[in-house]
Amino acid sequence: MSDPSGSSVRPRVLSGVQPTGALHLGNWLGAIRNWVALQDSHETFFCVVDLHAITVPHDPRRLAEDTLSTAALYLACGIDPQRATVFVQSHVSAHSELCWLLNCVTPLNWLERMIQFKEKALKQGDNVSAGLLDYPVLMAADILLYDADLVPVGEDQKQHLELARDIAQQRINARFAPDPEQPILKVPEPLILREGARVMSLTDGTSKMSKSDPNEGSRITLLDPPEVITRKIKRAKTDPVMGLEFSNPERPEADNLLGLYALMAGLSREQAATACASMGWGAFKPLLAEATVEALRPLQRRYAELRSDPGSLEAVLEEGRERAVTVAEATLQRVRSALGFLAAG
Ligand code: AMP
Ligand code: TRP
Repeated sequence: MSDPSGSSVRPRVLSGVQPTGALHLGNWLGAIRNWVALQDSHETFFCVVDLHAITVPHDPRRLAEDTLSTAALYLACGIDPQRATVFVQSHVSAHSELCWLLNCVTPLNWLERMIQFKEKALKQGDNVSAGLLDYPVLMAADILLYDADLVPVGEDQKQHLELARDIAQQRINARFAPDPEQPILKVPEPLILREGARVMSLTDGTSKMSKSDPNEGSRITLLDPPEVITRKIKRAKTDPVMGLEFSNPERPEADNLLGLYALMAGLSREQAATACASMGWGAFKPLLAEATVEALRPLQRRYAELRSDPGSLEAVLEEGRERAVTVAEATLQRVRSALGFLAAG
C-alpha cells in the first residue's frame, strides 16, 4: 500500500496523554518512556489531548495549567522539541473537524462496546456526555490526521487503536477511495512494549495504576517529592511470602513491584528477579524507594527549570502547533474531498 501523504521518509509516530491530574509511573513507563526512544528513528508528534480531558466533568480553572504542566512533563521526560513536534490538541482545529467527519461513518455499536467507555460510564452514573462515547473517534482523528504508522500506548488503549484502524480501513478507505492502491488514510499499528505496559496500583496488584483512583497512595506521580515516594512505597500492599518473584498468580503485588524495581533501577527482569529472590519485603521496599527517587530526580529537576521559564515552553507549543497544522490540514483536505464536499472558494 502506498503512503497516502506521499511525503514521509521516516515512519511517523503520534501519541498523547490527557492533561487530567498528575502523570504517574504508569503513564511514564507505559507510554512516554517509549516515545523518547522513538525520536531518532521516527518522525514524532506528541500532543496534550485537552479535548479528551473534557469528556468527563472538568474544572475550567485547572485545564490550562494542567495542559502546560503535562507539556512540561513531556519535555522533562526527554521529549526533545528539536526532533519531536509537541503541541496542544485543541490548538489544531482539524482534530475536532475530522472527528465530526469520522463520527458520521462510525457505527454507534462500535462505540458502545468500548471497554473504557463502559467503565467510565459506570463511574459517571447518569451524567454521561455524548463526548465520552465519542472519545475514541476523537482519538482516531488525532492519529489519522498525521498518517501515523505507529502509536505507542499502554495496553489499555489497544481497543481504541483497533477502532481507529477499522474506521480508516473499513469506513473511509474501503468506501471512499476510488483506487484501493491510493488509500485516503494510513492504517496505524499499535506499539505496546511488554515491560511497563501495565503498571499496577500500589494498593492492589490486580488493578492498574490510574489517575482516577481516589486513593493517592495507589500511585506514584512523576512530581512526588522523595519523602512522598518513600512513604507510598512503605505503605504499598504486600503479602506474607518471603522473596520477590515474577508471574506467580497468587502474588500480583510481588510481580508488580519487582517489575517496577527492574525498570527504576535499570536492570533486566532476570537481574532483578535474581537479586531479590530471597529478599524480604522489609529489605526490598527501601531499595525500590531509593531506585524510584533516583530515577525521577533528573526528570523533576528538568521540570522545575522548564516551569521557571514559561516563555520558552509557550514558544515550543507554538512551533509545534504550526508544524502540526500543516500536516493535519493536508489530511483533512484529502478526507473532505473524498467525502465530496464543495471546496471553499
Ligand atoms: P491516561 O492516564 O489514561 O490518560 O493514559 C495515558 C497513557 O498512559 C496511555 O498510553 C495509557 O495506556 C498509559 N497508561 C495509563 N495508565 C497506565 C498503567 N497503569 N500502566 C501502563 N500504562 C498506562
Ligand atoms: N486515549 C488515550 C489515553 O487515555 C489518550 C489519547 C488521545 C491518545 N488521543 C490519542 C493516545 C492518540 C495515542 C494517540 O491514554
